[in-house]
Amino acid sequence: MVGAAKRRINQERCLRDAGTPCENPRSFAHGIKQLSARIIDGKAISKQIRVDLAQRISAVRDGLERPPALAIVLVGDDPASHVYVRNKLKTAEDSGMSVTLQTLPGNATLDETLAVVDRFNSSPETDGILVQSPLPAAMGSNAAQRVFDTIDPGKDVDGFSPISAGHLSQKRTGFAPCTPAGIIEMLDRSGIAIEGARAVVIGRSDIVGKPMAMLLLHRNATVTVCHSRTKDLPGVAREADILVAAIGRAGLVTREFVKPGAVVIDVGMNRVSDADEARQLLASQPKRLELFERRGSVLVGDVHPNVAETASALTPVPGGVGPLTIAMLMANTVRAAEMRLSA
Ligand code: GUN
Repeated sequence: MVGAAKRRINQERCLRDAGTPCENPRSFAHGIKQLSARIIDGKAISKQIRVDLAQRISAVRDGLERPPALAIVLVGDDPASHVYVRNKLKTAEDSGMSVTLQTLPGNATLDETLAVVDRFNSSPETDGILVQSPLPAAMGSNAAQRVFDTIDPGKDVDGFSPISAGHLSQKRTGFAPCTPAGIIEMLDRSGIAIEGARAVVIGRSDIVGKPMAMLLLHRNATVTVCHSRTKDLPGVAREADILVAAIGRAGLVTREFVKPGAVVIDVGMNRVSDADEARQLLASQPKRLELFERRGSVLVGDVHPNVAETASALTPVPGGVGPLTIAMLMANTVRAAEMRLSA
């Protein structure tokens, strides 16, 4: 195909699918500017959400004579969990909320952890409770389940309890898990229509895949949930107008998974430390490859970066879905405080 024709088709695709011309035309060595996916800025959207929450936080402060209050329980030394919790603490504090961190050592028992949860359950000074997962393996395989079963559903700002899952499934008032709730917020605030869209979710976890499917369904998308045993995964994924990748496999979703013009949401957060794999995934991102060479590892999503040449919009990793998860944790905590205020 000659350059001008190819350029026109790409331009038309971008205008049709994203409503506005793509923001980041890329130059290729042969001189053609190929338009590529709009990169959805999760940091900017999460900032907007937090600005929108400011007035509600101040109303809670007036009504309860204290800000909305979040309690975080962190058990053990998992380095990634410590980073996640630090980000949650900082965002809560920056948003003018009160946040209490209760740490427990890696050898704490399940009963000790449940006792901490019970204390926060009965405290009128706590609106939301989050127990960071994973819990130490020594606590047993069903420890997280036992913890989520114990959190008061009225304070379950993570939305992980079976009561919250049931409420979500029946479209009743409750707390939806933050990552899928953040993705819906992201689609809405990016002007991406959900109603009537074919949505494909890759991954069936209780905290992302299943609630994601439910939230998309409640917004009148036609939803397919895929997993590691799905036959012809690329073929099913290619049916999607909205493709959500939440399977935890670095760069699994390549261009052959993506219908031209689809919106692709990348929930993956995979640490890659193999040099060949990093070079293959980051060939088009020299700065991130440089970071890998310096640090010896890099965080990448479930979506291969070259999907940007096929999709109309794409979330980056990092800076896409991650900041939305934290913003929705803040939103759920504010709502929990409002429920206390109106009780
Ligand atoms: N571990 C990784 N993400 C999360 C989260 O959103 N909530 C909790 N509780 N644990 C996590």
